[in-house]
Amino acid sequence: MSEQQTVWVNLGERSYDIEIGSGNLAQTGPFVAGLRRLTHAIVVTDVNVEDPHAAAVADSLAAAGAEVDVMVVDSGEGAKSIDMAGELWQRLLEAGADRKSIVCAVGGGVVGDLAGFVAATFARGIPFVQVPTTLLAQVDSSVGGKVGVNLPGAKNMVGSFWQPLGVLIDTETLSTLPEREYRAGLGEVVKYGVILDAPFFDYLEKNVDAINARQPEVLRHVIARCCRLKADVVERDERETTGLRAVLNYGHTFCHAIEAVAGYGEYLHGEAVAIGMICASRLAESLERVDSDFTARQAGLLQQLGLSTATPDLDRDLLLAAMGRDKKVEHGKLRFVLPSQMGHVELVGDVPPELARAAFA
Ligand SMILES: NC(=O)c1ccc[n+]([C@@H]2O[C@H](COP(=O)([O-])OP(=O)(O)OC[C@H]3O[C@@H](n4cnc5c(N)ncnc54)[C@H](O)[C@@H]3O)[C@@H](O)[C@H]2O)c1
Ligand SMILES: [Zn+2]
Repeated sequence: MSEQQTVWVNLGERSYDIEIGSGNLAQTGPFVAGLRRLTHAIVVTDVNVEDPHAAAVADSLAAAGAEVDVMVVDSGEGAKSIDMAGELWQRLLEAGADRKSIVCAVGGGVVGDLAGFVAATFARGIPFVQVPTTLLAQVDSSVGGKVGVNLPGAKNMVGSFWQPLGVLIDTETLSTLPEREYRAGLGEVVKYGVILDAPFFDYLEKNVDAINARQPEVLRHVIARCCRLKADVVERDERETTGLRAVLNYGHTFCHAIEAVAGYGEYLHGEAVAIGMICASRLAESLERVDSDFTARQAGLLQQLGLSTATPDLDRDLLLAAMGRDKKVEHGKLRFVLPSQMGHVELVGDVPPELARAAFA
């Protein structure tokens, strides 16, 4: 096993470590055994991740002495459903799971959110561990404890806050990730630089080639930095009550509108985030918070990472209407997370709808 990096998420008695390295799936057994007495593990994964990643996790858990059950769900957003949660609850029951069992979510954000939700609710909550295998899951969804499923037409509508016992990230799992999924994850990576960390944004600009080549040391640094930045926010606003966690939504009001109007599935989330950030930056320009160079710099980096920043040809009225349904709308006024300089964003209220519309460009 090569060098490791550890990010500590400080949440009182719910604190945990995120362990990041290359080739560390084979250490899942010792990792989990170091967190809790390991007798029974339930590995939840999807059909694309089962072989080889979830199999490696299961082998390692078994070698550490655990009885292991593997539960494989379909891939894709459709698996994040109440039906699938119900099926898993039933299978946990049949597998004799109880509060001494540990759920291991091995997969992308879909598996993490679903398995985490099942762990949060089965027997009023059993422990779980995240082993994220997409870049998006490694830098975003596996950190922070938000778990849940979708209702028809309402994403993430049913869920809970349920922190994992630990997160184990193996950058080698990214070697099998399809190119498009990898690039989409980079959209969220760039976001962290813009909202919280100007030197990190510089670092990304300087390491474009290594990032595109999925170079392990650079990936380890990038993922660890993103986890640290998200952890800092989560530590100060664990349950999204102070409003601080909203900074993570930079670009997302535009992004959600694009996803909804284009039809879910047309754009990967990270692809829509990239476009959404550029729209938000243009809106910040029109409010004289940043200049056009600021927007151009973000667009330049995103494009070098293979992400498009052009707003798709979608009906502007529909986009604006979709933004009106955003969570950040308060009393009918549009609110946006907008930058004022690299590494710093603020929640800006009462934005005139015509400026928001123009920002789609
Ligand atoms: N809980 C949170 O805080 C949070 C934050 C952001 C996003 N999310 C959720 O995350 C989900 C999206 O996650 P995602 O982008 O990881 O999508 P995903 O889980 O659907 O994974 C994307 C695709 O990659 C495949 N895959 C995963 N790992 C692979 C690997 N190593 N090699 C080959 N294929 C692999 C999957 O089977 C799937 O087809 C959404 O449901 C979103 O709501 C949650
Ligand atoms: Zn996002």
